[in-house]
Amino acid sequence: MDQKFLWGSALAANQCEGAYLAGGKGESIIDRLPAGKDRFLVMEDPVHHADQNYDFYPSHEGVHFYQNYKEDLKLLAEMGINSLRISISWPRIFPKGIEEEPNEEGLRFYDEIFAELARYQITPIVTMNHFDTPYYLSKNFNGWAETITRECFLRYAKTILTRYHDQVPYWIPCNEINMAKHLPYVGAGIQAKTPQSVADAINNLLIANASCVKMAHELDSNLKVGCMLAAGNTYPATPKPEDVMLSIEKDRDNLMFVDVQVRGQYPNYYLKSLAHDGIKLNLSTEEKEILAENPVDFVSFSYYNSRMCSVEGSQKSTQGNVFATMKNPYLKETDWGWQIDPVGLRITMNTLYDRYQKPLMIVENGLGAHDELVNGEVYDQERIDFLQRHIEQMQLAISVDGVETLGYLSWSALDLNSASTGQMSKRYGFIYVDLDDKGKGSYQRIPKASYYWYQNFLK
Ligand code: BG6
Repeated sequence: MDQKFLWGSALAANQCEGAYLAGGKGESIIDRLPAGKDRFLVMEDPVHHADQNYDFYPSHEGVHFYQNYKEDLKLLAEMGINSLRISISWPRIFPKGIEEEPNEEGLRFYDEIFAELARYQITPIVTMNHFDTPYYLSKNFNGWAETITRECFLRYAKTILTRYHDQVPYWIPCNEINMAKHLPYVGAGIQAKTPQSVADAINNLLIANASCVKMAHELDSNLKVGCMLAAGNTYPATPKPEDVMLSIEKDRDNLMFVDVQVRGQYPNYYLKSLAHDGIKLNLSTEEKEILAENPVDFVSFSYYNSRMCSVEGSQKSTQGNVFATMKNPYLKETDWGWQIDPVGLRITMNTLYDRYQKPLMIVENGLGAHDELVNGEVYDQERIDFLQRHIEQMQLAISVDGVETLGYLSWSALDLNSASTGQMSKRYGFIYVDLDDKGKGSYQRIPKASYYWYQNFLK
């Protein structure tokens, strides 16, 4: 088991690969998301919108990582990272999801990626499903609401675990599992959204996650399997006890997932809320045992911003990862209204570690910004400041608070399509990709100032 601190960055297949039907790949739920204002329309109401024809679907071309991966990985290796989080595209391996046998051509693509990473001694951390449920399963079985999707996923998980277990030490079955609750189409491929179908999907995702832990450990006891949360604590807007209680409830909406994934059982507050809303928890004795016997090895999470809440409804709100939140007067925000809160990272790390005592892994943290290419260069000082301030807070969490931490993987290695808006102009990478919001550009790669800063920092 590799014990070095993982310094790296992250990518997701659906946002960078493109080649959405190449080599036998099938459509994923994200391939039905257009860019622009219609994107939210489809996410919110896929039954009426996902089959319409829109002008432009960013994931279809991505940023050509599929075609360019050799050059991209070389640039990243030269930056000095020792680890890279990528995702495998589920529909590249099982195009509809329901096939008995995998698509060998899809697997060969990842064979090559892992061979390149090994050549550069970069440790891969692999997400099995980063918003990439095959569209067929979404359309025909309401995604993760039906157990068939879980069964198909486990066939896929077994295929990639068996093939890559000696090359990939860290596995994350599901990206931002709490998206299933907040954005059920993206998180769980749900088209027909009801409180019961969302609860069923959450249950299926949690059982699938625990089943992956079991499968991985049976295959190789050295493998580490983690959960992955879109994290960020919710602050009460005032010391008013009702605000404090509300902030606990808001955090539970997200922490519930990790409660199950670490403790192996549903927390009482969640069971009570299901009973209150007349929702059934469809959990057999055997599935209960799977959850109980297979807790995760580490807790990974994305952190972009903290949140704030109050029982007073009339407060100003702003955007943030996963959902909108109240505006915190002490924080500045990005051009997209995501509040910048480096100390919030330390607070979040302490919350997660105090609650679970499992090693943490930061698998996404970064700044979405409008980067300007001027005379062939991108001077993204704002991103450097953002990363530096967050890394400082992580270091305090480690050295002062004693939070066990496996690694820091920024978002994102190179510019890619934004998940929420589909824009290219919401850039996160160390490497600029010459492409605009309409998919026009040369696809040329240009290291930004932050690339050289991270390179120097990593030295
Ligand atoms: C996380 C996702 O929610 O945040 C990524 O795991 C996403 O896929 C990232 O790209 C940043 O969000 P956005 O919407 O700005 O791309």
